[in-house]
Amino acid sequence: MEEVEKVNISIMGRKHRVPAGLTILQAMEFSGYTLVRGVGCRGGVCGACSAAYRLADDYHLKSGLACQTVVEDGMELVQLPFFPGNKAVYEVEAITPDESTLREFYPEIARCMGCNSCTLICPQNLEVMEYMSAALRGDVAKVAELSFECILCRLCATRCPADEVQPFVAILARRLYGRHLAPPSPHLAQRVAEIKEGTFEAGLGEMKEKSKDELTEMYKARDIEPQ
Ligand code: SF4
Ligand code: SF4
Ligand code: FES
Repeated sequence: MEEVEKVNISIMGRKHRVPAGLTILQAMEFSGYTLVRGVGCRGGVCGACSAAYRLADDYHLKSGLACQTVVEDGMELVQLPFFPGNKAVYEVEAITPDESTLREFYPEIARCMGCNSCTLICPQNLEVMEYMSAALRGDVAKVAELSFECILCRLCATRCPADEVQPFVAILARRLYGRHLAPPSPHLAQRVAEIKEGTFEAGLGEMKEKSKDELTEMYKARDIEPQ
């Protein structure tokens, strides 16, 4: 039988030998760890699995998504229960956004020194420094647009010399934009009204009675927009 290539890693100081090619998450499970926090979608989407590690002969502390980062020989891993970040408390409904709103909740954004470290580490390849510049200018819509695909992993915050928590600024901007600034959507309003009126209740009830195979057939036969 062909022997699987292995690499040596250490998890919380304990040495393990694991198959090469595993992600950090898979290597931890292979080594017997049961992951109850710091794991979610396993597909690089939820941002729950930020991990810190060092590589052999490299003093830099590195970080990445544990479900996307492949283990390397000599890797030293630590598990943090969560990555840092102080989050402002607010009622989105009660805020009337203006150009100073983001700075009021997160005054530290004025400390940005333009080092671009946040952009370089972002696993989503977002222009993080750009959206933080927009936040400093008070451009809520621009922050919402540039940060739309942020997964809140907070890796950018681990690199920020100004102690900023970029994703919290960004999510405030997206909430403000969605609640107060986005153009109204007549189609959405109509659909919400239909749901409230119970328009779809009978159809949903019928679907709940169907078998998995019947539902699969319905799914295949659904109307879809042409590509
Ligand atoms: S902006 Fe920051 S928190 Fe959002 S995905 Fe990029 S690194 Fe993660
Ligand atoms: S890491 Fe912090 S200081 Fe550097 S550009 Fe990003 S927000 Fe600014
Ligand atoms: S588990 Fe969701 S991003 Fe890694």
